[in-house]
Amino acid sequence: MGRKSVLLISGVVLVIGLIGLLCVVVAFLGGLNLGQQMTARSQALPIMPMMPMGSSTPQPGDFSSNGERIFRTGSNDQGMVIPNSMMSGMGCAMCHGVDGHGGTMMGRTVPNITWMHLADPNLEQETINGRHRNPYSEQAYKVAIVGGHDSAGNALDQMMPRWQMSDQDLNDVIAYLKTLR
Ligand code: HEC
Repeated sequence: MGRKSVLLISGVVLVIGLIGLLCVVVAFLGGLNLGQQMTARSQALPIMPMMPMGSSTPQPGDFSSNGERIFRTGSNDQGMVIPNSMMSGMGCAMCHGVDGHGGTMMGRTVPNITWMHLADPNLEQETINGRHRNPYSEQAYKVAIVGGHDSAGNALDQMMPRWQMSDQDLNDVIAYLKTLR
């Protein structure tokens, strides 16, 4: 092999080596950059609501009625997220349960809000979170949902959000509460 060809081969090897090195550097910088972008993105994420997230936005047909949709998701058949004083995008079911029977949350009783329970004349005998209340009427439900007062006029704890709900939506959600057993 002549001296020239040896030089040529080492030249080629050197160039290939340099290109390789360049690739490694570019890949490394690219990786760094990607890492930064990912951090930035995760910081920008809003606080995830505590409710179980469905894989897709609910469609009107997923629910038997507008009232059920509001009860479960906090948005209505027009796709409007109903504003409340706590956190948008949650339905009544998140705290009161899908059956509306309630439970406990942070040491406080979350009441059973089914019509069957709250409109029952025996409700007078029940004390909940230190409150006595009268059997509910539809109007009393509306005052509780929008104004945050129970049927005896007691202010409800702030854990019960105040909802800016139209009269139609209120009627629909109450009609749904009447179907729960
Ligand atoms: C973030 C949790 C939460 C959500 C969401 C929520 N509630 Fe409540 N709700 C409560 C709690 C807690 C109380 C009890 C407050 C108290 O005892 O002071 C309550 C009380 C009530 C009451 C009064 C019941 C009684 O026993 O006097 C009604 C009616 C009611 N909620 C209806 C609803 C409806 C309808 C929705 C959906 C539009 C809803 N709530 C969404 C937490 C919630």
